[in-house]
Amino acid sequence: MANTILVGAQWGDEGKGKIIDVLTEQADIVVRTQGGNNAGHTVYLGETKYVLHLIPSGILRPKKTCVIGNGVVIDPVNLVGEIDGLLKQGISVNGNLFISETAHLVLPYHRELDEQREILKGKNKIGTTKRGIGPAYGDKAARTGLRMIDLINADRFEALLRIRIKENNEVLKAFGAKPLSFAKVHAEYRKAGDRLKPFVTNTVVYLHKATRRKAEILFEGAQGTFLDIDHGTYPFVTSSNTTSGGACTGSGVAPNRMNRVVGVMKAYTTRVGEGPLPTENQEIADMLHKMGREFGATTGRARRCGWFDSVATRHASMVNGIDEIAVTNLDGLDTLDTIKACIGYRVGSERLDYIPNDIEVLAKCEPIYAEFPGWKTPTHEVREWKKLPAKARSYLKAIAELSGAKLTIASVGPARAQTIFV
Ligand code: IMP
Repeated sequence: MANTILVGAQWGDEGKGKIIDVLTEQADIVVRTQGGNNAGHTVYLGETKYVLHLIPSGILRPKKTCVIGNGVVIDPVNLVGEIDGLLKQGISVNGNLFISETAHLVLPYHRELDEQREILKGKNKIGTTKRGIGPAYGDKAARTGLRMIDLINADRFEALLRIRIKENNEVLKAFGAKPLSFAKVHAEYRKAGDRLKPFVTNTVVYLHKATRRKAEILFEGAQGTFLDIDHGTYPFVTSSNTTSGGACTGSGVAPNRMNRVVGVMKAYTTRVGEGPLPTENQEIADMLHKMGREFGATTGRARRCGWFDSVATRHASMVNGIDEIAVTNLDGLDTLDTIKACIGYRVGSERLDYIPNDIEVLAKCEPIYAEFPGWKTPTHEVREWKKLPAKARSYLKAIAELSGAKLTIASVGPARAQTIFV
């Protein structure tokens, strides 16, 4: 498989968890490189559902090593909960999970500030997951963050936390919010720190040694291209680099050690949270929600839905260097007479074939659609490319071509077996 970066090519929730699980079969090590427990990767093994937030889904396969890289922000209490949840489901994390010592911590004041800032923004809110992600990355950039290496050093953690709580309590008071108790946060985080200590290591050196012995590494992206802090629909984005470059900075593995980039995209478009979504369509949303689909794995929020947007996915191919495409949720379109895909935007008299950086312009973009006949046949039991309805194959080929990369996987359901290799 060589070293593979997997990214979401839309606004997150592309079904990456399932594709990561499928690709993990060929990998030795799976690495998470950005984001935090704002992510939710759902994987089904038989009848059992696993929802992972911070731990790479590679943990579900025996003999795979999982790494939480330096680019991730970790809520340690939450991570302990996730580990305990896996242990209860009979999944071992002993000797196969490593956590970067330089990954930053999400602290309770980050969560509180996330919430307060959203309230202050009112109708202009971002619609964050309220997991404290933005404020935690903010502290990292401001050089006021605490890291895993601090958490596992009892004296240092106590001293640093005391200063940070004092300062942040002043900010919380200014928001009219309740200040935090140092003693309570300290006790809770130290307990989590003791539990996590055996997993904490220099993951950069670990991954470097692994590449030298030719281990194959899968870098699993969280969120999606248009939630990227640099390349997304700012400010309606998350606070990390969700695009392929983030896999290098978030792991310490150099760009020239990467061999391919796989972009995951749904056969339609979804988004949670606020911000422009040019192809948004209420009928598609109602149809998918009625099928019980498109509710967030982390917050349970109903996702906004729309037609496939190839202006977006082509842009994603460009900024990520996508070589191969995995299209998921094809079966979500099984009942439609006609399927639309956006092939360009119109703003006034101008036609655009890229995502404009000004979100006010993006909000005004009218999609230009191509229409495809629906296949009107259930596809969830199909296992071979040739057995897919011809109209479904044509649609998949068209959206891959419009996105500018090679289609290699089509997914027709959440199970491992519901995967068609093209
Ligand atoms: P934050 O990452 O919680 O700060 O949220 C910022 C934006 O990213 C919001 O619109 C969230 O809904 C969105 N977001 C964050 N994580 C995910 C994810 O895993 N899937 C989809 N959207 C996400």
